[in-house]
This record gives sequence, C-alpha cells and structure tokens, in this order.
Amino acid sequence: MKVLGIETSCDDTSCAVLDGETLLSNIISSQWRVHEKFGGVVPELASRQHMEAIVPVVDEALEQAHVLLKDIEGIAVTKSPGLTGSLLVGLSFAKSLSFAIGKPFVGVNHLEAHLHAVFLEKSSPTYPFIGLVVSGGHTSLYHVKALGDYTLIGATRDDAVGEVYDKIAKLMNVGYPGGPIIDRLAQQGEPKRVPFTRPKIGTGSKYQIGEADFSFSGIKTAMRLKLEELHYPNCDKELWHHLLASFQDTVTSILIDAIERACLQEGLNHFVISGGVACNSALRKKAEELATKNGWRHFIPRPALCTDNAAMVAYVGSRYLEMGKRDNHGLVPTAVDELGLKR
Ligand code: KG4
Ligand code: ZN
Repeated sequence: MKVLGIETSCDDTSCAVLDGETLLSNIISSQWRVHEKFGGVVPELASRQHMEAIVPVVDEALEQAHVLLKDIEGIAVTKSPGLTGSLLVGLSFAKSLSFAIGKPFVGVNHLEAHLHAVFLEKSSPTYPFIGLVVSGGHTSLYHVKALGDYTLIGATRDDAVGEVYDKIAKLMNVGYPGGPIIDRLAQQGEPKRVPFTRPKIGTGSKYQIGEADFSFSGIKTAMRLKLEELHYPNCDKELWHHLLASFQDTVTSILIDAIERACLQEGLNHFVISGGVACNSALRKKAEELATKNGWRHFIPRPALCTDNAAMVAYVGSRYLEMGKRDNHGLVPTAVDELGLKR
C-alpha cells in the first residue's frame, strides 16, 4: 500500500511516501532559521511557515519517490499532540487531499509515531518493549505492548529534556536549536567534574502513582546558578565545557536508569529510544552500555528518523489503514493527547 505521510505538529513541515515497508521519500523542511532569533518556536510563525511549505514539500516527496498522486492509496497525518495551528495546517491539507483524490486518511498520534520510527530500520524490536520518547515537548516512558496498546510508566512533571537543552542554549546564547549545540560543546568537557543533585522523584516503582515520573526544572535552575557563579561568559571556556558535560551526564543517566528500572520491573529485555533527544551522543552511548551490561537489545533510529519526520507518521498510519481504520472529515487536531494514560 502506497501511503503519503504528513507531519506538521511543531516546527518541521514533512512529507513522506511509504510503499509497504519501503520508505521511498522523507522530505523535511525545517523552520529553525525563522525561530532562531527568538530562541524557541513561535506558534503563530510556525503555522504560517507550514502554510507556505506544505505544497512544495508534498510535491518534492512525490517527485523523489517517483510516485504520482493518483497512485497514493491512503494518507496518514499527525492529529495530536502539538501546536494547534501547526497541526491544523497538516490535517486540513490531508483532509482536502483525501477528498480530492478519493482515498482514505487516518490521523496519527505523534508520540505513537516516534515510538514506531525504529520499525523503518533494518533491525526492529518485537512487542512488547520499553519505549522512551525524548523530545522538545515530551519525556515519556512507555510499556509498548502492541500497536495501539500503551501503558505510560512515567512522564516529566515539568520541562521536557529537549526543552531544557534549548533553554540552557538560550541562556548561554550559543545558538538554536540548543540540543545539538550543547551536545557538541559537552563533548569537550569532563562529565564527572561538576556535581549535580538528582531529583528525588523518578526513582520509584510505576506501581506507586507518579513515582516513576521525571523532573528536570531543578537541574535547569542549577545550571543557571552555576553559570552565574562562573560569571559566564567571562570565564575560562574549559570550565563551562566541564559544566555542560556534567549536565549532559546527569540528565542522560537519569533517563538510562529509568529505562533499566522499567525493563527490570516489566521483565523485558529490549528497549527503544526515540524523539529529537535520541540523537544525543551521551544518551546513545549509555544506551549501548546498558544493553551490553544486561545482555539486552536496544533500538534507536538513525538521527533523521529520531527528530520530527513524516516517515514515522506514514508507518503508523499505513498499519492502521491496512487494518481498515478510517477517519472522517470531522477530525480536528488535539493539542494535548498523552498516550496510555491508564497507570
Ligand atoms: O522530536 P523533535 O524533533 O521535536 C519535538 O517533537 O519536540 O525534538 C526536538 C528536540 C529539541 O529540543 C532539540 O534541541 C533536541 O530535540 N535535540 C537534542 C539533540 N538533537 C536534537 N537534544 C540533545 N542532544 C541532541 N544531539
Ligand atoms: Zn516529535
């Protein structure tokens, strides 16, 4: 089945063509230059950019896939969660296209898509598995039992990990988006040089409500105070490289420890990490070490499938379309839509 995937939940306009299990194209038009000077995504500007980009991005995805619109058999589009105005552009476009070409469409949850991006790789997990989504908007840990069957083990109570990276980069005035920049700078420092207090929550069992949650706002404040202490930027470069390396070591250790606890509690021996922060060098290295230590398998998609992309939306959508799922033209976007909330 040839499926056209569309993703516009935040600041990337993306369109992909998936033919069965073969990804034919995955075009991503990033808006980072528009949002750069604000140090974060400006929702109104994001939706205007999506309106300009959507037609050229869809055209390019079809062209690169050597597929004509008349050959598309179904459309998959992100319906939630995300910025309402941004979601609305993709969803309205998908609904109109579905009506125009007389083919079905299905709305996809963005987090569900992140959890399944790895299925586009040669090596992918079997259900059930532990899945961590770490991005600019989410830090959520799931027991993924099957497509559509998720239990949320823990989620952030305040900032998402990617958001903390972006805010620290803004504070330090080192550029946008902050994640990849801080990651690069952190690699120049020593990860154990500066002590950080880890949050008290996030160390318990999922059976105590909220005990397996995350919190990163305290670490963000600690970073601000430590930068002030150093009189940043009027200090030795080496010192703030050590600070960033230690920050990165702390947050990635918290995530890896949570995955280990979840695997042990659920009796599972493989895990998936996805979302933009899954590109992080320290997180990828620690995931590999965790898997080796326990004899487990781990799966992290290539960076282009970790950050927002339409290929993962096309993948989940095509599985639902093949099962006969259809949405109707009354579907509207939902800004907040956590998966698997029953604990
Ligand atoms: O999944 P994504 O593209 O969009 C959302 O759904 O939010 O994730 C974007 C987030 C941003 O906060 C970005 O700074 C972060 O992922 N990110 C990273 C890295 N690459 C991207 N964070 C840490 N290290 C990286 N290498
Ligand atoms: Zn995302």
